[in-house]
Amino acid sequence: MDLQEKIRNIPDFPQPGIQFKDITTLLKDGKAFRLAIDRLAEPYKQQPIDIVIGPEARGFAVGAPVAYVLGAGFVPVRKPGKLPAEIVSYEYSLEYGKGSLEIHKDAIVPGSRVLIVDDLLATGGTTLATIKMVEQLGGTIVGLAFLVELSFLNGRQVLTGYDIGSLIQY
Ligand code: PRP
Repeated sequence: MDLQEKIRNIPDFPQPGIQFKDITTLLKDGKAFRLAIDRLAEPYKQQPIDIVIGPEARGFAVGAPVAYVLGAGFVPVRKPGKLPAEIVSYEYSLEYGKGSLEIHKDAIVPGSRVLIVDDLLATGGTTLATIKMVEQLGGTIVGLAFLVELSFLNGRQVLTGYDIGSLIQY
């Protein structure tokens, strides 16, 4: 099955000039969704993963099922003001805009082996912010797994030194 065919391109969303890769058309296809999750999890089945992190919001849709497949815990990274307990936060830049992300301080215990899973690697800002918070809390990044990679934005350059995988590249 060609997973790329399941992704819908929406021109000029959310701003003129942006070609938005809409993964909802892949997620609603049961066979494609299962295949995508299995492929994301596959490289990490033979090594211990304690925690899968998925950044809000689309990262939840792919991160949580990967955690389930691996028998790992799932930890959300959220946009500001959503997490109720003590947090650490990190400012990041997006393909279009800026923001900050937060994680619960006690979500990562020192020495935790962490896999970050997200639907999209664009500039890498979201992933780098997530890495910084995990490492600040003493976690070890085992890998970074993405459904879609926008190669022309060179997100890999800001994530040098980490094990990066993506299922679909543009
Ligand atoms: C999107 C996407 C990734 C991030 C990738 O999330 O789900 O998390 O952007 O971009 P980057 O590599 O340039 O950081 P977005 O912040 O749009 O939030 P959403 O998932 O809530 O739509």
